[in-house]
Amino acid sequence: MTVRAPAKVNLHLGVGPLRPDGYHDVITVLQAVSLFDDLTATTLDTATLDGPPTTADEADDDGVVVTVEVSGEGADPTAQGPATTTPDVSIVPTGRDNIAVRAAHLVAEAAGITSERVHLTLTKGIPVAAGMAGGSADAAAALVAFDALWQVGLDRATLASLAARLGSDVPFPLTGGTALGTGRGEQLTDVLATGEYHWVFALADGGLSTPAVYAEFDKLSEGRLRTGPTPADDVLAALRTGDPVQLGAALVNDLQPAALRLRPALRRVLETGRELGAVGAIVSGSGPTCAFLATGATESVELAASLAGMGVARAVRRASGPAAGARVVEEGPNGADGSGGSGGTGGPSGPGGVAGGARSSGGADGPGGGP
Ligand code: C5P
Repeated sequence: MTVRAPAKVNLHLGVGPLRPDGYHDVITVLQAVSLFDDLTATTLDTATLDGPPTTADEADDDGVVVTVEVSGEGADPTAQGPATTTPDVSIVPTGRDNIAVRAAHLVAEAAGITSERVHLTLTKGIPVAAGMAGGSADAAAALVAFDALWQVGLDRATLASLAARLGSDVPFPLTGGTALGTGRGEQLTDVLATGEYHWVFALADGGLSTPAVYAEFDKLSEGRLRTGPTPADDVLAALRTGDPVQLGAALVNDLQPAALRLRPALRRVLETGRELGAVGAIVSGSGPTCAFLATGATESVELAASLAGMGVARAVRRASGPAAGARVVEEGPNGADGSGGSGGTGGPSGPGGVAGGARSSGGADGPGGGP
């Protein structure tokens, strides 16, 4: 059983003051883009595995044992970037801190499952700790995978509420497309978006911690009267036109000054992208990835090549949006051979915005965000 889930870019991220619960109210517009993580869940035969637990995970007390293996990021041979690009999957936890493992336990709890052993393989096409919600994509993929694997049949609303318990950014990769997020970002509504958008992402060395960027935002906002998050009207209007130039000019990220304070070198990356013809240039979410909008597919190829040549980024990726939400792409027995069907869009370089999906229980296929 393999589920594919997309990365996101925030077209608008308006942030309000710190709330008593430690979160910030946001008004955000999210677009899923065609960089994907694939999560393969394989049921292990409990009969042949009745020895003592071999890892910390296997000692979990709900009777559900999940082991994790991570690979990817940088493994895409078509990716542009220096040959020395090192995938940084090593910072993804493989124990019970892994958000996909937490998702598995939540589905087990919801379904009353008390004895299962599952192995997860995470193939990461989404850069790690990069402000593109890769961990959230993994969690969303896990919710869809375990719901299908254990034939639980959770409805869309239940999946979304489990997702929100896992993190503010987890509900979005379930649906994909283009959406407006409010609350702490987890309350989603569809937006009317036309067109396909061509993005170039400049990846940076090392990650940025989301809480650290929000904390820097609080420091920068100290003493300033902030009534609420900046509304997203300009981005929403641009999305209705389908014009990348208008969308590029409307992009907003209230976390950008904080991310730039923590990583001043990103200023140069943003300037370089603009000089090379990007019609929009912004830090993606809490960073440190910088997102550039091109006017079309050809322009994005040129922009990606030029950016890679300037050496301002660890690596450069192209992607299009909107992309579909988390969906089953292989339904082999236990995910073993994948012969059971495919709803995929043809791999990480495939077009975004296609609501594929072999999933029949109806929960999480994305709207694709099209007109
Ligand atoms: O929701 P999640 O656990 O992914 O959020 C991680 C951290 O990001 C929070 O603990 C908080 O510090 C910060 N955050 C925030 N406001 C939001 C979303 C996240 O302050 N709306």
